Amino acid sequence: MRRREYEAPIELAHELFRTAETMQVAGTNAEGEVLLKSLHGVVDDGWVCFHAAPAGEKTSLLGRQVVVSVEETVARLPSYFLDAERACPATTLFRGAQVRGVLTAIDEPVSKARVLQRLMEKLQPEGGHAVIEAQSPLYRAAVKGILIGGVSLEGATAKAKLGQNRNDEARLKVMEQLWKRGAPGDVRAIELMREANPTTPTPTFLQNELGVRLHAALDERSLDETIGLLRGEYWNDVFSEDDLRRAHLGSTAWVGARAPDGQLVGTARALSDGGKYAWVYDVCVRSDWRGRGVGQAVMRILLDHPAVRRCQRVRLGTRDAQSLYRRFGFVDVATIKRPYATTEMVLARSTR
Ligand SMILES: CC(C)(COP(=O)(O)OP(=O)(O)OC[C@H]1O[C@@H](n2cnc3c(N)ncnc32)[C@H](O)[C@@H]1OP(=O)(O)O)[C@@H](O)C(=O)NCCC(=O)NCCS
Repeated sequence: MRRREYEAPIELAHELFRTAETMQVAGTNAEGEVLLKSLHGVVDDGWVCFHAAPAGEKTSLLGRQVVVSVEETVARLPSYFLDAERACPATTLFRGAQVRGVLTAIDEPVSKARVLQRLMEKLQPEGGHAVIEAQSPLYRAAVKGILIGGVSLEGATAKAKLGQNRNDEARLKVMEQLWKRGAPGDVRAIELMREANPTTPTPTFLQNELGVRLHAALDERSLDETIGLLRGEYWNDVFSEDDLRRAHLGSTAWVGARAPDGQLVGTARALSDGGKYAWVYDVCVRSDWRGRGVGQAVMRILLDHPAVRRCQRVRLGTRDAQSLYRRFGFVDVATIKRPYATTEMVLARSTR
């Protein structure tokens, strides 16, 4: 890799190959033609594997050196984030991985079936089919007839361009601009930039005097800890852990606070239509951290979050934390004067 500062740990390569919906494979066939094909790939036993028709073009790359590549755009940065006149700073933050190696046919039926089953689990996670097994009468012929190729992930490289080429001042400027712009993915981009540049100071909108690290976006890596904080809270008694997981992953904004030891001590999330309404849910602080301002800090980030800050009405329900929300200007719904009366209604049903 020419620019060493963009080199990312091998774990990122594994993650990207594991999660990417599509990949590209490139190589030259026996006729010397250069081929580039898009494919659905899956990681199995340290190999990135994919299926192909025995008579297809991908098959002509078998036994030959290929490159398999995945790429994810994190955020597009316009030039004016850093310079009011020059177009030169325009760039894209991205993460990607590549692996070079010999494309090898995987012939053993049990391994072939396992790769196909993994592909189904990735692309059709809801199931709805019989498990693919080599000896199953449903699949025996198909497993035999299909070609499975793989490239060992040993030697894979990952690249993450997340502002490492800039100085702290420029990185902070970009983070502030991403927070201000708030396009889909921008808040996640801020957190990825912070992870990739750990010595960069905290951007102003996440600064606090509480000794916690505030996060503008949490992701699936924080799910277990979040469920741990919310388990047993009175308003979640009708919801399962699975409901809570999906609710957090499906939220438009999910923010948090971590203690100096890295543990999650505060979380809050919101659903937003981006214009009229946002609904705040699951505000919670770990009991030994309560009363120190963490609840207010996560609420401040949540209300300032780009998905929420543009909403005309932000709603929430609370049994006894009214004084916390009053500090931000929340009032009892009944005190809002409207020229008509409405009844708040709910459809309470079990989805299980
Ligand atoms: C409510 C909660 C999120 C507040 O977090 P926190 O970090 O303790 O709050 P802060 O220290 O930032 O602010 C505390 C302020 O909120 C007020 N507050 C309101 N309800 C509160 C409650 N149930 N517990 C603690 N503080 C509460 C406090 O009175 C205090 O205001 P004050 O300084 O004027 O007295 C936290 O106590 C918690 O997780 N409670 C259990 C879960 C819960 O009830 N969540 C709210 C669901 S709507």
